[in-house]
Amino acid sequence: MADFSSLYAERLTTAQELAARVENNWLIGMDAAAAQTPTIVSAIARRAAAGELSGVRVQTLLDVYPMEFLADNSLLGRITSEAWFSGGGSRRAINSGYGDIIPNYYRDAPSLIRSGYDYDVFCVQVSPMDKHGYFSLATVSSYSPAMIEKARRIFLEVNPQQPRAVCGAQIHISQVDGLIEVDHALPVLPAGKTDALSQTIGGYIAEQIPDGACIQLGIGAIPDAVGAALKAKHDLGIHTEMFTDSMVELIECGAVNNSKKQIHRGQSVTTFAFGSQRIYDYIDDNPGIALMPVDYVNDPAVICRNDNMISINAALEVDLWGQVCAESVGTRHMSGTGGQVDYVRGACQSCGGKSFIAFTSTAKGSISKIKSTLTPGAVVTTSKNDVDYIVTEYGIAHLRGEPLSSRARQLIAIAHPDFRDELTFEAKKRGILL
Ligand code: COA
Repeated sequence: MADFSSLYAERLTTAQELAARVENNWLIGMDAAAAQTPTIVSAIARRAAAGELSGVRVQTLLDVYPMEFLADNSLLGRITSEAWFSGGGSRRAINSGYGDIIPNYYRDAPSLIRSGYDYDVFCVQVSPMDKHGYFSLATVSSYSPAMIEKARRIFLEVNPQQPRAVCGAQIHISQVDGLIEVDHALPVLPAGKTDALSQTIGGYIAEQIPDGACIQLGIGAIPDAVGAALKAKHDLGIHTEMFTDSMVELIECGAVNNSKKQIHRGQSVTTFAFGSQRIYDYIDDNPGIALMPVDYVNDPAVICRNDNMISINAALEVDLWGQVCAESVGTRHMSGTGGQVDYVRGACQSCGGKSFIAFTSTAKGSISKIKSTLTPGAVVTTSKNDVDYIVTEYGIAHLRGEPLSSRARQLIAIAHPDFRDELTFEAKKRGILL
């Protein structure tokens, strides 16, 4: 068997040395969450802060490590963030005018990367090399294979605390230009605040999910509460964009066994995982979970191949047409489209499938999330033509295929009682309550 340890030793270096290789106007690619390389990028940002670099752009998705270039507006133009989906630091950077966002359906990111971008370097955090010279991309597959194809160089942070995903993306030492060793715990997603309202919503949705269904749960407290409400189900399957703690719980309590899936039977399928240490432990050396590229996992034509596909996602506001905003509060940017539309469409095309957009009826106790019209500046995530079910603590509205008057009536019925008269008045004024 070939010995790859000498190749490894040749490429092993320091973050400072890798940062010293970076030149003005480089495009740097990183993938999601725990796969990012904060040590290398911080060293690059220090060079930018010292005036040694300009025009460097860094693409990310769902940033969870604290990274200077996302926190320091004086670095604009020297090292600038471009997010495929924002979170944490990039959300702040976008709202403060020193970070950028690339609008996209997540499933399209790999093709947009292949056709639109050339990376000077792709940086990724991986688990230690195996005896065949491969590093597991651990918690993330996502668009990494596309960035690897389009990158002139590859830099790694090798972290023994990264799990080894046996059914996930891999990179070989022969593809790598430089690597550093780090040893730190992976970032953890704070558990969602599950309260009585989200439990009520979770209960309504659980009633709609038959045993044997295949589920996708999105980001946020409500999808987490739905996960908790599914523990009494049987033979559920998982085909999802983000693998979360609530899914590990459903597997461990026996509600999920993936036995009824039409594709990838016996395996949970996801494109990346983010949550607590419990998830990272679950992934390690586990053939029961497949981490696959997002252009496959989030393709509605793939999603719908599982019967009874149920997607559950959150939103910030919905108008009486059923237009869903899940990524901005007015003009204030919050996140991105991610896979919401991919799963709404995939679930609706599945035999027996349903898609739920769920949220508490009010924000901050006094703002109705069901609105006569969207707040100026609000971004439409899921269109009126795709939307299926909307759920609040007051019940479920089924909008798909329904006329506008029925949509308005159903949505007003599940709005907070304090806002129903006003919504009815506005709807009548517009002549949409026939
Ligand atoms: N008006 C004003 N403020 C609002 C609001 C509204 N209509 N709706 C929510 N907010 C506020 C909340 O009060 C909260 O404020 P806080 O941070 O001060 O507490 C904040 O906005 C976040 O809202 P919350 O409902 O807690 O968000 P969440 O963490 O549950 O996430 C989404 C909800 C919609 C942002 C999230 O699901 C998302 O990014 N979705 C898009 C991507 C997606 O669906 N992908 C699916 C596949 S994974």
